[in-house]
Amino acid sequence: MQSKTQPTTATVPDTVPDTVKIAAKDVKVFYGQNQVLHGINMDVHANEVISFIGPSGCGKSSFLRCMNRMNDTIEGCRVEGQILLDQRDINAANIDVVQLRAQVGMVFQKPNPFPKSIYENIAYGPKLHGLAQRKADLDDIVESSLRRAGLWQEVKDRLDQPGTGLSGGQQQRLCIARSIAVSPEIILMDEPCSALDPIATSIIEELIDELKQNFTIVIVTHNMQQAARVSDRTAFFHLGQVIEIGNTNELFTNPKQKRTEDYITGRYG
Ligand SMILES: Nc1ncnc2c1ncn2[C@@H]1O[C@H](COP(=O)(O)OP(=O)(O)OP(=O)(O)O)[C@@H](O)[C@H]1O
Ligand SMILES: [Mg+2]
Repeated sequence: MQSKTQPTTATVPDTVPDTVKIAAKDVKVFYGQNQVLHGINMDVHANEVISFIGPSGCGKSSFLRCMNRMNDTIEGCRVEGQILLDQRDINAANIDVVQLRAQVGMVFQKPNPFPKSIYENIAYGPKLHGLAQRKADLDDIVESSLRRAGLWQEVKDRLDQPGTGLSGGQQQRLCIARSIAVSPEIILMDEPCSALDPIATSIIEELIDELKQNFTIVIVTHNMQQAARVSDRTAFFHLGQVIEIGNTNELFTNPKQKRTEDYITGRYG
């Protein structure tokens, strides 16, 4: 029996719950001498959608890139602190970065299909990672990835045509399908809808809602309605710090920090 002071149901664990997918510990980012992130601490939970909002230049993309070591590709960029993925330090010497980026996929602001066919755009990653032994297995991965990204019906008869020939919204879904194809656990999306019209945007938003059954999604957006629609939790960044993080609904309706309130009510500036 539990004591009277203990909740009898839905006990909240006081140790690190195993739902923590990524834990950022005191993460700092520098470009040369310029420090742009000042010690970020944050947990990303398994199967949640978490949004990052905040004014331009506050460090959202820089932090997102810490989560799959994309900052490694930027000359002069230095990251301090720790990013733990399933409690393993992703910056440790024994981490295979190619494998890491398959596990933690990324979708960029501007759709960036490879200059290859629609089929090859999806098949490339699974081939690289040896996920398909036979052509039929590869075909299955291509079809299921395109289906999950809500693109199959539109492209199934033109798989051999260039991915770059699709519309912007279709290209973005192709890029999402490409990241899904290697069975990631986390998908990082940096303003994935900023180049899309409202219809293509709502297709991607519906897709995010479906994908969260299987994936953890971190999305950067300047569109606060979008953050409110798609995410479970929201983090507000300002000048390289996380000012406030919490349940999306609460953060938008009852922000605890004045800076958050000023930003979401449009008074920032
Ligand atoms: N490759 C780079 N080299 C030098 N400085 C950079 C680089 N990328 C970003 N920065 C700087 O780091 C800071 C944070 O930039 P970051 O792109 O992370 O912000 P952001 O919140 O994503 O902004 P936005 O909403 O405009 O995309 C800015 O001052 C920016 O100028
Ligand atoms: Mg950015």
